[in-house]
Amino acid sequence: MAVRKPLVMGNWKLNGSKAFTKELIEGLKKELQGVTGCGVAIAPPVMYLAEAEAALAGSEIALGSQNVDINLQGAFTGDISTAMLKDFGAKYIIIGHSERRTYHKESDEFIAKKFGVLKEAGLVPVLCIGESEAENEAGKTQEVCARQIDAVINALGVEAFNGAVIAYEPIWAIGTGKSATPAQAQAVHKFIRDHIAAKSQAVADQVIIQYGGSVNDANAAELFTQPDIDGALVGGASLKAPAFAVIVKAAAVAKA
Ligand code: 13P
Repeated sequence: MAVRKPLVMGNWKLNGSKAFTKELIEGLKKELQGVTGCGVAIAPPVMYLAEAEAALAGSEIALGSQNVDINLQGAFTGDISTAMLKDFGAKYIIIGHSERRTYHKESDEFIAKKFGVLKEAGLVPVLCIGESEAENEAGKTQEVCARQIDAVINALGVEAFNGAVIAYEPIWAIGTGKSATPAQAQAVHKFIRDHIAAKSQAVADQVIIQYGGSVNDANAAELFTQPDIDGALVGGASLKAPAFAVIVKAAAVAKA
């Protein structure tokens, strides 16, 4: 089986300022000095990509963003293109976050288009999937995750997941302090990997599946003991350098 290097990514969401961006990155560089064995990425608001790019110069921490548009250029007010993200050295691009699916009515098909433009541009899609609390209680977790993955497979083929990242983020666990248990998350991660393996074992073996939803410095290590949890997409705890660094180090140790 392919050896997957874990990836821990911080999704800053709608938080920060120029000064905060510089300060947090300086803190992360100090905290993570000499830590290998885990890929690290941060997605500040696009507004601060310039400050982030400058502060990250010479560091192993990769830059990302929280969204991208499907259009490459032209009359699309307020949107951000793949070329613009590349211009700032961004690599890992979050798409399909539940907050965008909910507040901006993004559909599975629209998100699959975003996946396609990212692949075309040589950027790494971080595809967020996951069920709501009601769907979870109705026993629909697998159905929802399969549908969200299949939208990409149907549009682009399973090979599109080569070099891509999936973040399983149960909506009921996001920002609630109520993380999925390691066993609960592992069961869904295994389902997702098996679902992709049904089309291609090789693609399934290499795809990074992160867990997201109330990951913090106290619960990360136990989540990473699970074989199909390849890292985390971290919201709140990514806004504090010491907590985020504990999560990264826990992944490096667990997957060594
Ligand atoms: P929290 O870590 O704040 O629960 O957010 C998770 C998330 O949505 C990351 O994309």
